[in-house]
Amino acid sequence: MPAAGRPPARPVPAEAVCGNGKESGAPAAAGAGWQPPGRPDERLAAMAHGHHDTAHRHGDHGPGPGNGQGHAHGHGHGADVDWAAMAPYLERGAELFAPLHAEAAAWLRRWQPEPELVVDAGSGPGVVTALLAEAFPRARTVAVDSSPYLLERARRRAERQGFADRLDTLEADLATGLDGLAYPADLIWASKAVHHVGDQRAALSVLAGRLAPGGVLALLEGGLPTRFLPRDFGLGRPGLQSRLDELEDRGFDRMRAELPGAVAEPEDWPALLAAAGLRHAATRTFLLDLPAPLPDAARAHVAATLAHRRDVLADGLDAEDLATVDRLLDPGDKESLHHRPDAFFLTAQTVYVGVRAEG
Ligand SMILES: C[S@@+](CC[C@H](N)C(=O)[O-])C[C@H]1O[C@@H](n2cnc3c(N)ncnc32)[C@H](O)[C@@H]1O
Repeated sequence: MPAAGRPPARPVPAEAVCGNGKESGAPAAAGAGWQPPGRPDERLAAMAHGHHDTAHRHGDHGPGPGNGQGHAHGHGHGADVDWAAMAPYLERGAELFAPLHAEAAAWLRRWQPEPELVVDAGSGPGVVTALLAEAFPRARTVAVDSSPYLLERARRRAERQGFADRLDTLEADLATGLDGLAYPADLIWASKAVHHVGDQRAALSVLAGRLAPGGVLALLEGGLPTRFLPRDFGLGRPGLQSRLDELEDRGFDRMRAELPGAVAEPEDWPALLAAAGLRHAATRTFLLDLPAPLPDAARAHVAATLAHRRDVLADGLDAEDLATVDRLLDPGDKESLHHRPDAFFLTAQTVYVGVRAEG
């Protein structure tokens, strides 16, 4: 919806998306009001189920302890992640990261103080979309994702948080284009999504191509490995997290290699933004620092993340490390992450800003 009280320079209509085909019974472009038939819970279950044929099997790609991507990789195949099944995990992780995302969004105001159209590319269940809507209260917001189920979650969140009237959702593959987006965007945010596309260079070019003159692409990729315990926490061999990180890096390589149309690409994001025709304007790394003792929600997320990582990486761990991980995950064990007072959450994520030339 155009910003209240001022005529938009480039009018963005009530719906900023246009239809371009259907998948899983859902419109490719669904406005806030669209609902599939059935009771709400049935609809969600049906959409989650229906999603399996287009995509994925259970994997571990939620933000949390892990490598610089902020989440564990390495389970199954690159194109084989069941994103719908991961919804609660993605939501809890993104909620934990809210202060970091909010700080990043506020920083973006220096290039786009009042965007009219904000796109969250690879939005998942819309937690960051909601944050962007809050940071840019006069903007129309579009959540784009390949998972109709996650987009439905994003719509539900927007309804709960009171901004459904200025949210559109668009089911689209970042690999093949965003033709369903009817108007060029002033700000495109893409967090932890582009690295799930086989040809990242092509995906950036798709995103850059949907920017209005002067528009900004904010890419959140990489950063530092998360830490959630001291190097030596008194159980097993010190340095467990470094060993997990190494396994996860290898899993990430495997995940990327197995994506459809995978292209090996050095992760030089400023160079890739430039190759997409954008001026690399800035890079900044944001810290999420939750010291011990952790609040319950953060503790639960750390435990869930380690559990995912155990599933994914168990084959690469020696018996001693596996036993340590199992103790950390056992709610009945006083030394576990569920009880120990020394658990914390410290991570850093990097945002790269590319700007499209004016005119
Ligand atoms: C790790 S989640 C990140 C979600 C959200 N951006 C965040 O930061 O919390 C990656 C998201 O990218 C989406 N995704 C993966 N590959 C995609 C593609 N080719 N096109 C569109 N979305 C994709 C997934 O469905 C998932 O929602």
